[in-house]
Amino acid sequence: MVSQVFEEISPADFFYRNRDIAGFTNPSRAIFASIRELVENSLDAAELAGVPPDIYVRLTFGEGGSQSGIYKLRVEDNGSGITSRHIPSAFGQVLFGSKYKLKQARGTFGLGGTMAVLYGQITTHKPASIVSSTGSTKIYKYRIMIDIQRNKPIILERKIRINKERWHGTIVNFSLEGDYFRAMPKILEYLKQTALVNPYANITFVDPKGRLYKFMRVTTKMPPPPKETLPHPYGVDVETVKRLIQITRHRNILDFMRTHFHRTSEKIAHKFLEFTGIPKSKNPKNLGPQEIVKLVQMMKRFEEFRPPSASCLSPLGEDLLRVGILKELKPEFTAVCQRKPSTYSGHPFIVETAIAYGGEIPKKGDFIVYRFANRIPLLYDEASDVSFRVIKNMNWRRYKISPDMPIAVLVHICSTKIPYKTVGKEFIADRPEVKREILNGIREAARKLKRFLSKREHVEREKRRLDIFSKYLPKIAQFSTRLSGREKEPDIKKLLESVNSGGGKEQGK
Ligand SMILES: Nc1ncnc2c1ncn2[C@@H]1O[C@H](COP(=O)(O)OP(=O)(O)O)[C@@H](O)[C@H]1O
Ligand SMILES: [Mg+2]
Repeated sequence: MVSQVFEEISPADFFYRNRDIAGFTNPSRAIFASIRELVENSLDAAELAGVPPDIYVRLTFGEGGSQSGIYKLRVEDNGSGITSRHIPSAFGQVLFGSKYKLKQARGTFGLGGTMAVLYGQITTHKPASIVSSTGSTKIYKYRIMIDIQRNKPIILERKIRINKERWHGTIVNFSLEGDYFRAMPKILEYLKQTALVNPYANITFVDPKGRLYKFMRVTTKMPPPPKETLPHPYGVDVETVKRLIQITRHRNILDFMRTHFHRTSEKIAHKFLEFTGIPKSKNPKNLGPQEIVKLVQMMKRFEEFRPPSASCLSPLGEDLLRVGILKELKPEFTAVCQRKPSTYSGHPFIVETAIAYGGEIPKKGDFIVYRFANRIPLLYDEASDVSFRVIKNMNWRRYKISPDMPIAVLVHICSTKIPYKTVGKEFIADRPEVKREILNGIREAARKLKRFLSKREHVEREKRRLDIFSKYLPKIAQFSTRLSGREKEPDIKKLLESVNSGGGKEQGK
């Protein structure tokens, strides 16, 4: 008989074995993913601290020089910093983080930063160093490695410095194997698009050849920060309700519903409990497994819960989106549109769209598509993304727009739960609700562009008409003066002006 050997592996071990699913597929992708994950953490941290982000990224060749394929990466920010006791786990433990709350953030899984450090460790066997302060009187420096089998940080060194300036922020330094020159176009594109959706951020990048790339902020205005929210009854499942029952201090189900669920006022909770037939005084801790299942089913069926509020979201807003596009893409015309909040499976989301036309936007023979989720650019697997499909299938002729025009289409989705298809966070699944919002958003922007284009066409037509008048009218005047035998030519200036103002009037319509 064949005997099977059973083992258990830790989450870190799982991601070590399956690093592809977190986006660390090969040396080129790994270097891109590392920069991306650390920059995202920095942006989140600066927004948490409420300051416009200042992010400095430096990539240098490792000890073996340019041929070794080993790089050192340093990412520095002016964000919230991390409390000393959480620093080792934040970077040395997979699935450990502070962003599991119900509010919009770039990070979601407690994975990215640690994955970068883990990848560095398995390719170079070197520790990572993290310097951080929350703005207190002390700055902490840790050198750590990850015990992958146990999913725990190993602290090699811990130092404390006095923080005279009350600096707050984080500096991460580690070595990794990579292929910068293959990854370079994507990295630069990533930084440019990040600058576009975060126009209030300063991002500096120094590449291994010492080339400096600067993306400077054009505004210090930041979108209002998202507020944490409670789970919406339409979006919860049995496990969530069980966990809430475990932690609740309330001894009757009416108070339980009122306190732990979004959009559940006392009045709505009353109505809902009547609908379910569960007595209001029932202790939630005494609900049996079947009763919990029934409660969750009834939540989905009860129609009077209002849709989730969007205060847990932080869209960029039409003004900032336009500013970002003007800054990074320099088009002739930009149409932006922010849709009203909507929901899928109880998760709130907002779609923002834009179409940029002309100026420095190149003619590619097809629309250039920029995809963003929670203010992160998505660069890989474009063809699998819902936005891409919506754009492909749209009837652009209705808007007198064709793919051979210099056009970029932008779609930004923000949500407490972006329906990513993978943990690598590269493309978004086709949820019908999300798809509909994207389509409507693009249509709205397309209508604005259509108006602009037809207005411009009109102006050009008028200009041509005027050009003809101003070319021939003097000649006609001359000729007719001669023909009639008069000496003085008639004053054609007035005539030209009247033609001109006629065109002007129509333009304003
Ligand atoms: N630059 C930073 N500034 C402040 N906190 C950070 C920074 N980088 C990481 N963290 C903390 O470490 C946690 C884990 O980071 P990470 O592994 O990237 O997961 P995620 O961003 O998905 O939460 C974050 O939730 C955050 O609390
Ligand atoms: Mg992260």
